[in-house]
Amino acid sequence: MAILDKHKVLEKNATLLLAFSFLVVTVGGIVEIAPLFYIENTIEEVDGVRPYTPLELAGRDVYIREGCYVCHSQMIRPMRDEVERYGHYSLAAESMYDHPFQWGSKRTGPDLARVGGRYSDEWHVDHLRDPQSVVPESVMPKYAFLERKLIEGEYIIDSLKAHKMVGVPYTDEMLENAQADFQAQIDPWGDTDGLFERYGENVPVRNFDGQPGISEADALIAYLQMLGTLVDFSTFQPDPNR
Ligand code: HEC
Repeated sequence: MAILDKHKVLEKNATLLLAFSFLVVTVGGIVEIAPLFYIENTIEEVDGVRPYTPLELAGRDVYIREGCYVCHSQMIRPMRDEVERYGHYSLAAESMYDHPFQWGSKRTGPDLARVGGRYSDEWHVDHLRDPQSVVPESVMPKYAFLERKLIEGEYIIDSLKAHKMVGVPYTDEMLENAQADFQAQIDPWGDTDGLFERYGENVPVRNFDGQPGISEADALIAYLQMLGTLVDFSTFQPDPNR
């Protein structure tokens, strides 16, 4: 065919081949990238996903500071072995408020994307204090110091503000009440109306480490106990048109 014969010209001239390859890649790139500037969101919105409460956010900071992501991933791949072990595969929306995301790339320990509700708070206290006391063969380090380190939450508003700056929809009301909400989540006998109004009725409120004061262990366990629990997978239907 005549047109294919003309291709020979390209194949025999390295400079021309380079120029045309560049053209093809450019056109392909524009076609793929340009639409992203015009659509509002590339993540399918899913009911139930909400920004972290101030206490959970503080716990997430502890998680990052202690490098838990070095041994734990938070990303269930849609493969049978993973889904059977850990539960429904992770949705993009479930980490849409994570800055930075905690998908991780190493699983010395199990994936934690759906660890919320799998164990009791007491189990987590024991496990953080001394992992080998509940799982004798565990290689996880001890984090007993977390329950002794009390936190006031005086910086929590700054953390919320920083997350708002990168796109997490914290409202002015959430910012104003950050400190109050931080303390309310640990106190089942306190005034939790505002917390529920801002973050939803399902926010767990309890003394996570069972000891007086708000410790880093409280915050971390609050965070661990909500992981993967926001979306109700008995009613979730993926939208094939997105
Ligand atoms: C050196 C690697 C390592 C580090 C660092 C580490 N873990 Fe682990 N983790 C493990 C291993 C291994 C297991 C499995 C055995 C066990 O349950 O202790 C585990 C188990 C867990 C489990 C139970 C998961 C399940 O589904 O049974 C939780 C929760 C957990 N880790 C949380 C944390 C948190 C929070 C941190 C950071 C403060 C952390 N881990 C840091 C290795 C690690």
